[in-house]
Amino acid sequence: MDEKLAIDGGPKAKTTPNFPMFPGGMEIGEEEKKQVLEVLDRKYLFRYYGPENFPSKVKEFETKFKEKIGAKYALATSSCTGALLCALVACGVGPGDEVIVPGYTFFATAAVVVGAKAIPVISEVDETLTIDPEDVERKITKSTKAVIVVHMRGVPADMDKLLDIAKRYNLKVIEDVAQAAGGTYKSRYLGTFGDCGCFSFQFHKIITAGEGGMVVTNDPRLYDRCMGYHDTAACWRPDRFADERYPGELFCGSNFRMSELAGAVLLAQIDKLDNLLEKMRKNQKRIIEGIKDNKKIKLRPVNDPNGDTGVCLMFYLDDKNRVPYFVEALRAEGVDATGAYNSGIPDWHIYAHWKHLLEKKTPTQEGCPWTCPYHKGQDVKYSADMNPKTLDYLSRAVHINIPPQMTLEDCDMIAKAINKVASILD
Ligand SMILES: Cc1ncc(COP(=O)(O)O)c(C=O)c1O
Repeated sequence: MDEKLAIDGGPKAKTTPNFPMFPGGMEIGEEEKKQVLEVLDRKYLFRYYGPENFPSKVKEFETKFKEKIGAKYALATSSCTGALLCALVACGVGPGDEVIVPGYTFFATAAVVVGAKAIPVISEVDETLTIDPEDVERKITKSTKAVIVVHMRGVPADMDKLLDIAKRYNLKVIEDVAQAAGGTYKSRYLGTFGDCGCFSFQFHKIITAGEGGMVVTNDPRLYDRCMGYHDTAACWRPDRFADERYPGELFCGSNFRMSELAGAVLLAQIDKLDNLLEKMRKNQKRIIEGIKDNKKIKLRPVNDPNGDTGVCLMFYLDDKNRVPYFVEALRAEGVDATGAYNSGIPDWHIYAHWKHLLEKKTPTQEGCPWTCPYHKGQDVKYSADMNPKTLDYLSRAVHINIPPQMTLEDCDMIAKAINKVASILD
């Protein structure tokens, strides 16, 4: 292909406007309005009670969600961060424990471990950009209690290997499905493999209420403990003032309850999930079809391509130094591309930028959890270069969002732009 690049004054490969990446957010319409107005008309804004009795929208959403993904219990929360904290506490993670998290995830995944009074241990990701099972196994110590598996940028982690490791070392598994709602692994929904699965409905996510989260589990005790932590007053209990029904049921919790307004929006959004996934997957396939024979780039491998949500396309160049120009050239062609890692550009998704965690900053002087006397193992040490594989993959990666609103014509133009820009690589 010898058409002049747009960055050099040639014609653009993509001439249509780019859609913002708010998959469910951009589809908010009459269905969401109807649900929200119903909540306002009823003056029933709190899931447990109001001036008159109505069925809770949050409860209805929980029921729909758990039935959709095939989990026994679902608890709606105010965010995925809140959901993760509930899950960690429910799983018994606390002082002295270490929890392994991947070095490529939103910072919240690591920060909540500190919130649960435990120490995050940061693992490499592999070429799929999800947590590297081999590095997880290397980083297990006597203090390791759990691993948070993140299905990062919409794709499943290697659940077979991770569950095998967890079983052998008796670890709890918490899935962070914030970026992959509706994704699957070997035909089973993500979030249903671990002890708990946590979802986000923040505005960037596949379905959204602006803010919101969900914990799912198949274990009634974990569900009770998530419940207890997500609601200080334990309004949910059959008898809210009764003694505990079994040891470990009652303890001091917090408040991560979901509001009826969020529940209403999500009731409408969940009906749109399959359609959003279908469109993103179709678009992703179409772009891949157009670039699959291009030997100058390497597509991110995916553990189970059928389970990919299709939220993005990521591929690698051989040389990280070519990425900034490649991205600039793609942008000049009209494609909304970005790099994934640059040490000079702050990004909360890459551990090397988690400065206050790497420096073990804490809100009080004592330095817990890192100085916790219950932690019996060696000091957990951090540095920006401690996971070189993660930084190598990310610094060679190019990322393109795939909004479901894109047309197949848009996809063909994106593929054309990638091939055009790649033609300048040796
Ligand atoms: C992988 C991952 N985990 C956790 C979160 C936190 O989600 P929330 O904003 O709902 O607390 C996010 C959100 O950006 C995320 O991308």
